[in-house]
Amino acid sequence: MHIIDIIAKKRDGMVLTKNEIDFLIQNYTKGFIPDYQMSAFLMATYFQKMNDQEATYLALAMRDSGDSIDLSAIPGIKVDKHSTGGVGDKVTLILGPLLASLGVKFAKMSGRGLGHTGGTIDKLESIPGYKVELKVEDFINQVNTIGIAIVGQSGDVAPADKKLYALRDVTATVDVIPLIASSIMSKKLASGADAIVLDVKVGHGAFMKTEEEAIKLAELMVSIGRLAGKKMTAILTGMDEPLGHKIGNGLEVYEAILTLQGKGPKDLVDVTIEIGAHLLLDSKIESDFEKAKIRLHEALKNGKAYAKFLELVKAQGGDLDSLKNPENLLSKKLVEVKATSEGYIMDINALDIGKAAMRLGAGRETKEDDILLDVGLDLHQKIGSYVKKGDVLATLYVQDKGVEEAKVLVHDAITIGSIKKTLTLIKKTIK
Ligand code: URA
Repeated sequence: MHIIDIIAKKRDGMVLTKNEIDFLIQNYTKGFIPDYQMSAFLMATYFQKMNDQEATYLALAMRDSGDSIDLSAIPGIKVDKHSTGGVGDKVTLILGPLLASLGVKFAKMSGRGLGHTGGTIDKLESIPGYKVELKVEDFINQVNTIGIAIVGQSGDVAPADKKLYALRDVTATVDVIPLIASSIMSKKLASGADAIVLDVKVGHGAFMKTEEEAIKLAELMVSIGRLAGKKMTAILTGMDEPLGHKIGNGLEVYEAILTLQGKGPKDLVDVTIEIGAHLLLDSKIESDFEKAKIRLHEALKNGKAYAKFLELVKAQGGDLDSLKNPENLLSKKLVEVKATSEGYIMDINALDIGKAAMRLGAGRETKEDDILLDVGLDLHQKIGSYVKKGDVLATLYVQDKGVEEAKVLVHDAITIGSIKKTLTLIKKTIK
């Protein structure tokens, strides 16, 4: 088998075999195929695409390039969720304890944030003492004991994807649906879960800007997961404005706590309950979707979900006292952004809000950047609210970094006008 023949086959729009895709990934990971040939292959794929079967072979080959987590020591059905990334998306922090409080096994490896989107692991680190690294046996014991563990990625998960993603980034080949789908799924398939719900975000704050693209990506990821033997669901949810009100690491933990105490904003609660209901059914704990939703709402209201969150934090070494007054997780230096006209909030550009949080230090521009855990912003308005000139649109929690730039970004991200818009948050379910 020769790499030149594989490149030529893809260039000419032909379908690759499993052996050819395995050859490509194994030899690229070992360094036997140079970047210039892989770049040619990626560009050929950009134009000629891949069918579902090829994308599945690619996901499996990338999964098999590194470690997979073996969760077989945890009895029963293990679940996982993945979001394609948005602004203010703190769903995992709520969903995990909520599901575990109803008996679901939530063994989750999460990532750090990059660019305008945050990561669960950074958020959890804003709780003093919370350990994001556990030995595999401790991770499994914790799930067996309390039903939940949330840790950072350990081991060498899908190294082929890491190498390939870095190359795609510099060869203008990120934006190819089969490559995105196989990249995401290579890591999900390594996570050891039996049932996975994908939250595919769509809108200007998301990777996928149109519903059509998001549906294609969601369908392909569901197909890859299913061909690999997983129970799969994808939901398409709007990222036309940030999810909830608070953006930034400590701020998102704060909003997650409020939500776990039954005081969360409607959009955040709705997305969490929707994903949770699918996973409650997948875990065979409930058989009726509407009843599953009711049980999840009840667990948020009756304190069960919050009690499970405290158990999780305690088990992973976090300081429970710091959560009694979550404002302590936040900077005390506040700056307000005010409305300069009157009317309805017609748009909140989530991408620019995410960038503002990043400028304040809440997010990383490169993987090596340090972040500040106590900065970010609290948006007081959502699309459809009415504001008067001088009303506070957002409070920024700042240190010394990026304050003026963030103020302008937040102010300009919010469009005020004469039309009262309503948004559809949960746009589609793909099973
Ligand atoms: N996220 C990933 O993990 N991979 C992609 O290709 C795009 C987004």
